[in-house]
Amino acid sequence: MPSPNPITETLLKRDSAVLLAWYDRAARPLPWRRPPGQAGRANPYHVWLSEIMLQQTTVAAVKPYFTAFLARWPSVVALAAAEDADVMAAWAGLGYYARARNLLACARAVGAMGGIFPQAEADLRKLPGIGPYTAAAIAAIAFDIPATVVDGNVERVVARRFAVQTPLPAAKPDLFAHAASLTPQYRPGDYAQAMMDLGATICTPRSPKCEICPWAHCCKARAQGIEASLPAKTPKAPRPRWLGHAYAAFNAQGEVLLETRPPKGLLGGMLALPCSDWGEAPAPNPPLVAQWHILNTPVRHVFTHFELHLTVHWAMTDATPGRGRFTPIPAATDLPSVMRKALAAARAAAGL
Ligand code: ADE
Repeated sequence: MPSPNPITETLLKRDSAVLLAWYDRAARPLPWRRPPGQAGRANPYHVWLSEIMLQQTTVAAVKPYFTAFLARWPSVVALAAAEDADVMAAWAGLGYYARARNLLACARAVGAMGGIFPQAEADLRKLPGIGPYTAAAIAAIAFDIPATVVDGNVERVVARRFAVQTPLPAAKPDLFAHAASLTPQYRPGDYAQAMMDLGATICTPRSPKCEICPWAHCCKARAQGIEASLPAKTPKAPRPRWLGHAYAAFNAQGEVLLETRPPKGLLGGMLALPCSDWGEAPAPNPPLVAQWHILNTPVRHVFTHFELHLTVHWAMTDATPGRGRFTPIPAATDLPSVMRKALAAARAAAGL
């Protein structure tokens, strides 16, 4: 744990200053980011939107979605007025769809406050979809408040910097305390982003580039030659395999039957092919009576907590469905990734 010793504190402050100097040279230009030295003047709506999108998703994947959202909904008030289905469709492909539902709920809550985001971490945390990490990131990056911002990248940097050998997740409180000991009062928004960039570009999970690291001089893991093994992790149980059935019904107009999934639960609120339940042995549940063909190879998709093997059924039909509605296929770009895969497989089999 960090020591309250004043000499240690001075050294930690110097390391924070060294990191900021590195960030001034090496900051990644990102569409939601102000150049170094201008954190605290970033648009809170841009910071919030990017942080929600970046939860569990890479910078590269987020960039086009961020730009498209801003073009369509240039302010939090504009987003608050959006239709749920439009936002869910614009989010399709980013995954973790509860984030999109919370995004809209949060936009509406902030809209009700006149479109002004609160600044304090505690107030930010009261908003839908904003947990401890996101509240700290918004407070630091949008408002230059010295909040301690700890995501997976920062945990890795700190575990190495202080040679914390306790495995994750047990090490989390320790890593947070170490990170807090480094957080400067000066330019905390830039500092938070510098930590993220260091973790993303230099202090990477595999083959960290220690030769060019601004913290090579103070990294305890490097001094001990154990950087590659940190952060240690308690092994995870393997993902269970779930099964499911998906039904691609095409009509004579070349439309496909789609339905909006219930608001709560997996892919909640998203447009999807009609499905059975997903689980260990789900019963088939076709949306209409038809001559169904079954694809030999199931569509595989990895979710956080399970792997899904979806048996895809397809049929040509002129029957009226018991649920969902026939939709032109181009709108299928609004589908989540697993549904895009299943639809593509069904179309290939049907020759459509
Ligand atoms: N990951 C999450 N938030 C980020 C940010 N603001 N900059 C870079 N990477 C991030």
